[in-house]
Amino acid sequence: VRTIEWDEQNQRLRMIDQRRLPAEFALVEYDDHQAVAQAIQTMVVRGAPAIGAAAGFGLALAALRSTASEPAALRADLAAAAETLKAARPTAVNLAWAVHRILEHLPAEASAAELRRVVLAEAQRIADEDVEINLRMARHGAALIHDGDTVIHHCNTGALATVDWGTALGVIRMAHTQGKRIHVLVDETRPRLQGARLTAWELSQYGIPYDLISDGAAGYFLSSGQVQAAFFGGDRMAANGDVANKIGTYMLALACRDNSVSAYSVVPTSTIDLSLVSGAQIPIELRDPTEVLSLQVDGSPVAPAGATALNPAFDVTPSRLLTGIITEAGVVYPPYEINLRRAVQAAHSEAAR
Ligand code: MRU
Repeated sequence: VRTIEWDEQNQRLRMIDQRRLPAEFALVEYDDHQAVAQAIQTMVVRGAPAIGAAAGFGLALAALRSTASEPAALRADLAAAAETLKAARPTAVNLAWAVHRILEHLPAEASAAELRRVVLAEAQRIADEDVEINLRMARHGAALIHDGDTVIHHCNTGALATVDWGTALGVIRMAHTQGKRIHVLVDETRPRLQGARLTAWELSQYGIPYDLISDGAAGYFLSSGQVQAAFFGGDRMAANGDVANKIGTYMLALACRDNSVSAYSVVPTSTIDLSLVSGAQIPIELRDPTEVLSLQVDGSPVAPAGATALNPAFDVTPSRLLTGIITEAGVVYPPYEINLRRAVQAAHSEAAR
């Protein structure tokens, strides 16, 4: 089962409801783009490539459900739906990337029926390509993992964060598939616990040995020489390699640098936003403080009544803390300003073939 799948027969979008894992594996169906935007906002679906693919199918639903019979009216409906979908979450650039890619693909002269066909076909192409790209990144990245390594991982970057296979967790999964004996330290990833709930669940499915650790324990394991490398994903990478990823990634990368442990960001080129000079320009999503305050221990809320909280969902890791950036075009090393641009061009040329 893919995380995101188009139901051809019923012309609907089907996704795994990630809010219910690991207690329950449930699929939910979507019939209109507003509901897809809400599913992205409430994190039924999450992870940068996954929300890009979901938004693509959201646009397809907008095209199919629009009552417009004239191409101009349909284009207007699509433009409005694109704005709704893009507004769902601000940090992961894959969301806007997918929506723009589909809109740019629309032929100048076409009937409404033809436009509908093109939107759905392009959404499907984005989803299928995601799986291919993840496998390519996984092969490049797995070469950096050695038999017997312990690696540390933040958030969830697996099949659930993509259409299938995964980015950083996909690299780890590929190394395991190649027969390397590896152990994964899984950051639980407060406040929404994507590591504890989703990554641990995925690793159990794949039979990859792991231990869950609290986020703050990473420094202990890194400083005691028990970790050979860190792998994490990215939600938006600027042209200089600075990368916004799940909150806590920056502190993990700092601790890696202090202990001379390699830190790799694994990102498809669709996550690279060359329009941004540095990470300072990346918009950071601030989520509802209740996500931080709702933690319970022994059945009681940990925070006192009336406590307030701040909840930035992402932080920016400066590229100077990265050992390398794993993309579908290969592993990119400094100088990132030059080599990331080359990787993006190489990926475009490969896709055009
Ligand atoms: O808030 P989320 O769960 O959508 O955040 C996801 C991450 O930060 C991932 O690490 C990132 O999307 C890259 S994984 C494909």
